[in-house]
Amino acid sequence: MLSLYILPFLLSFLFSTPIEAQDKAPLATWNGRQYRCKCYKTDACWPATASWNELNTTVNGNLFKVVPPGATCYNTFDGKSTYNQQQCQAANSGWSREDWHAEQQITNMWTFWTNHTCNPTTNRNNAQQCTLGHLPEFVIMAKTAAHIKAGVDFARSNNLRLLIRNTGHDFMGRSTGYGSLAINTHSFKDVKFVSTYTGPGDQEWKGGAVTVGAGIQGRELYKLANQQSPKVVVVGGECPTVGFAGGYIQGGGHGPMASFYGMAADHVLSFDVVLANGTLTTASSTTNPDLFWALKGGGPSTFAAIVSLTVKTFPEVPSAGVTLSIRSTGDLFWKGVTVFHNLANLYVENGMFVYYELSSNSLNVQPFVGPNMTKTRIETVLKPLFDGLKAAGVQYTTSTREFPTFFDLYTAMFQDESAGFSGLVGGRLFTKEDIRTRGDDIVKGYKTAVGAGGAGGGFTAIIGHIVGPGYALPKVDNAIHPSWRNASSFSITMVSVDGAASLSAKATAQNRLTNVVDKALRDASPSGAAYVNEGDLEEPNWQQAYWGSNYPRLLELKKKWDPEGVFYARTTPGTEDWESIEWGSRLCKKVS
Ligand SMILES: Cc1cc2nc3c(=O)[nH]c(=O)nc-3n(C[C@H](O)[C@H](O)[C@H](O)COP(=O)(O)OP(=O)(O)OC[C@H]3O[C@@H](n4cnc5c(N)ncnc54)[C@H](O)[C@@H]3O)c2cc1C
Ligand SMILES: *[C@@H]1O[C@H](CO)[C@@H](O)[C@H](O)[C@H]1NC(C)=O
Ligand SMILES: *[C@@H]1O[C@H](CO)[C@@H](O)[C@H](O)[C@H]1NC(C)=O
Ligand SMILES: *[C@@H]1O[C@H](CO)[C@@H](O)[C@H](O)[C@H]1NC(C)=O
Ligand SMILES: *[C@@H]1O[C@H](CO)[C@@H](O)[C@H](O)[C@H]1NC(C)=O
Ligand SMILES: *[C@@H]1O[C@H](CO)[C@@H](O)[C@H](O)[C@H]1NC(C)=O
Repeated sequence: MLSLYILPFLLSFLFSTPIEAQDKAPLATWNGRQYRCKCYKTDACWPATASWNELNTTVNGNLFKVVPPGATCYNTFDGKSTYNQQQCQAANSGWSREDWHAEQQITNMWTFWTNHTCNPTTNRNNAQQCTLGHLPEFVIMAKTAAHIKAGVDFARSNNLRLLIRNTGHDFMGRSTGYGSLAINTHSFKDVKFVSTYTGPGDQEWKGGAVTVGAGIQGRELYKLANQQSPKVVVVGGECPTVGFAGGYIQGGGHGPMASFYGMAADHVLSFDVVLANGTLTTASSTTNPDLFWALKGGGPSTFAAIVSLTVKTFPEVPSAGVTLSIRSTGDLFWKGVTVFHNLANLYVENGMFVYYELSSNSLNVQPFVGPNMTKTRIETVLKPLFDGLKAAGVQYTTSTREFPTFFDLYTAMFQDESAGFSGLVGGRLFTKEDIRTRGDDIVKGYKTAVGAGGAGGGFTAIIGHIVGPGYALPKVDNAIHPSWRNASSFSITMVSVDGAASLSAKATAQNRLTNVVDKALRDASPSGAAYVNEGDLEEPNWQQAYWGSNYPRLLELKKKWDPEGVFYARTTPGTEDWESIEWGSRLCKKVS
């Protein structure tokens, strides 16, 4: 009986003792270095069940212990039986669909970074156990800004790794993280259009604007823009399910209208955010202007958690589109690729965007986007391309269509992508100068890149974008790498590798991406750059590659707005000393 009385006394004594920083940030040694780590489940500083329950109350019961959706295909997860035939079937068929992933509490469309420890299977009795791998421990399915604040506060005060998860699109695994607390922003779907902007910040903008919640996705927003009277355009991504107001815009955001109107981040009028210290505030050109600058291209999950934002809207325009597929093989195939890509400057100097997929024996361009163009006009602009292909004797197929609006073109001519693919991603931005002076070398770089193959018999592919935001906006003061203004082509590179491959096979694939595939493109583009949303996590000198001359200011702003490192995404400003030690698990900061 006595102990029951003593216990509260002991507890109060414990809590009145100042907790030393080291008790809250466990020490670790890894590869001969010393680190201070975030708190994990096996650490004494991990919050007690009562604290989690309290957090759950604060977020109105929207806190969940993460159970991977693949668990329904295994007999057990975490000691509980989980098999459910129907849900397992749904997980298996949803795995390759982007819209399915976007609806999940936690999964990553590019599965490599989850560590492949609970992928859906059709063999429930296979030897592998379903474990969390690199998925978070808990997720808040946030419904209000107060829920986001509660998550940020809880992670900060308990020294937990915090993760923000919107759609799970991140090619570089930055919406998953071992042992973390995640905040899922998918349900923030509010959208409000105005025809004349009168909100905070830029008082000179008299055009239209739209305020959107953090969870809105590409096509949803485009559909609503198309329902306005008059119809308007929002500059967003090419992919229908990418989040508009999460990682996309914080990285800069290119897309089909980016040559004609500029990058998505060029058009933000204001952000509503939760700061690392838990304060809900606005960032615009007049309130917290330095934070406003940094949020426009300075990196995802770096300076604040976005709750909502307002961007400019633009007039709809009639548009024309062209498809092109090269039929020739061998040397003639590469001749065709060269003719096509060497004209990148011509395309963007006419306000065009081009999406294409390139492998070692196929170039599929779908489509060339000609904003404010008729069928006749786009065919005139592209005449040098078709003349060049004919002169070289390259075989191809092509088609041209015209539409009353860009939205109609977008709906008819862009194809949905699939998900559930495991691979490593890199990429390179080419400037007009590089295209003009080294165009042939860039295509030779492509050839080396796609010829490199994947790891363990896989493949390498290129997803190309002809995009030149400098056509619309030659000068913009935001955090996006200044080279974007001189750019006319941006390519994603992809090396396939099984997420369950051995550590050495994974290292081989990473080495191939960085030192063969991307190296070939870097070498051919001395004035080029890289893109933080679609780049290599091992990009050499990533600070320069992703932000160029903007980096020093971004580093200062990270120290100002998030001095303790509450927010984290790999290769973003101020993360130099942070590392996921133990093969991508515990997140720790170097102390020596
Ligand atoms: C199929 C496909 C097509 C793509 N097309 C384009 C394209 O056309 N143009 C382009 O520029 N990019 C494109 N991308 C890349 C895309 O911009 C990035 O993957 C981006 O990070 C996705 O953001 P998200 O919020 O949807 O995804 P998530 O994976 O959920 O989040 C990505 C990152 O943003 C952070 N984040 C998310 N929400 C918030 C928030 N509210 N506050 C703070 N941080 C947040 C996350 O923590 C994470 O670091 C494409 C990607 C894919 C997979
Ligand atoms: C949070 O509360 C809800 C509603 O009571 C409950 O369903 C959920 O399991 C709780 N989460 C945790 C982690 O206990
Ligand atoms: C990740 O996968 C590797 C092997 O595939 C395994 O050894 C390691 O334990 C896994 N880590 C986690 C945290 O699941
Ligand atoms: C959080 O930071 C902002 C900006 O520096 C400051 O205005 C605010 O007072 C801080 N809030 C708390 C609770 O510390
Ligand atoms: C589209 O082109 C017409 C001329 O053909 C021009 O008057 C109009 O301003 C252009 N629209 C935009 C949005 O640039
Ligand atoms: C863009 O190109 C022009 C001319 O080639 C050059 O003067 C300018 O410095 C370049 N700008 C950037 C940001 O690279």
